[in-house]
Amino acid sequence: MFDRLKQLEVLRKSFETQGWALAHQMFPAEVAAAMLFQFQRGLGNTPETYTGIWGKGPFTREFCFESYAYHYPFHAGLLWSLTPYMQALTGKELLPTTSYFRVYRKGDHCALHVDRAAAEYAISLTLGYSDDISWPLWVSKDAVREDARMKEGGLLPDGTAMSMLRIPMQPGDAVIYDGVNRLHGRHDPNPNEWSAHLFYDFVDRNGPYADQAFDRRDEFVQPSAFHFPAPGAPTTPRKKVRRHTR
Ligand SMILES: [Fe+2]
Repeated sequence: MFDRLKQLEVLRKSFETQGWALAHQMFPAEVAAAMLFQFQRGLGNTPETYTGIWGKGPFTREFCFESYAYHYPFHAGLLWSLTPYMQALTGKELLPTTSYFRVYRKGDHCALHVDRAAAEYAISLTLGYSDDISWPLWVSKDAVREDARMKEGGLLPDGTAMSMLRIPMQPGDAVIYDGVNRLHGRHDPNPNEWSAHLFYDFVDRNGPYADQAFDRRDEFVQPSAFHFPAPGAPTTPRKKVRRHTR
C-alpha cells in the first residue's frame, strides 16, 4: 500500500531542497479522467462549441483549449480545495491564486519560462493523454538568476543555458515547483494527438506575493448572508423537495 503520509514528508523535503517535487498519483488516474470529462462536458470539446478560450497561450505556438479557474465554478472549486494539501506539503500558510486548464495538440510545445508572482507554489497536473504517451515536464535544476529574468522580462528564449530535468508524468501525476524561480515548460513536441493538463497556483499568505491571493479578484472574497422569513411568516418551500433517507 502507498503510504501517503510518508509521501507528503518526502515531497516537502524534495520541494525545500530542490525547488520541485514529483507527486506520483497525486490524484488516482480515475479521478483525473473524471475531472477531464467534466471539463469536456462543461466547456465543450471543439473550437466551435468550446466556451473557454480557444487561442494561443503566451508560451504556445498553436491554438489550444484553455480556461481559467474563475470562468468555471467547478474549476475554482478544484483550486480552492487543494489548499490544505498544498499547505501540508509546503508547511506554509497558503492562499490560492489562480488555475488554468489547457489541452495541447500534437507537435505543440510549451516554451520554457518562469511564471508571474501568483505562481509562488505551482502544481502541474497531467489529466490525460489521447495516446497514453508520457509527455515530460521540464524544470530547471537551479533557480533562474534574478538578472536573467529581469533582462528577458520573464521569458527566456530557450533552456540551453540552464541544466534542465525532464520529468515523465502519467495521468494523475503532479509536479509541485517554484514557478517564479524555476524555468519550466514542455520543450519536446507533444507526441499525443492531444494532452490535457491542469495548473494550480498558490502564494504564501505571509510572503512577498500575498497580494496575489484569489488573483486579486475581490468578487470571490465577499461576505455571505442568508435571509430567513420573519417569525410567523409562511415557510412553504417554492418547490417540493423530495428528501432521500436511507
Ligand atoms: Fe508556467
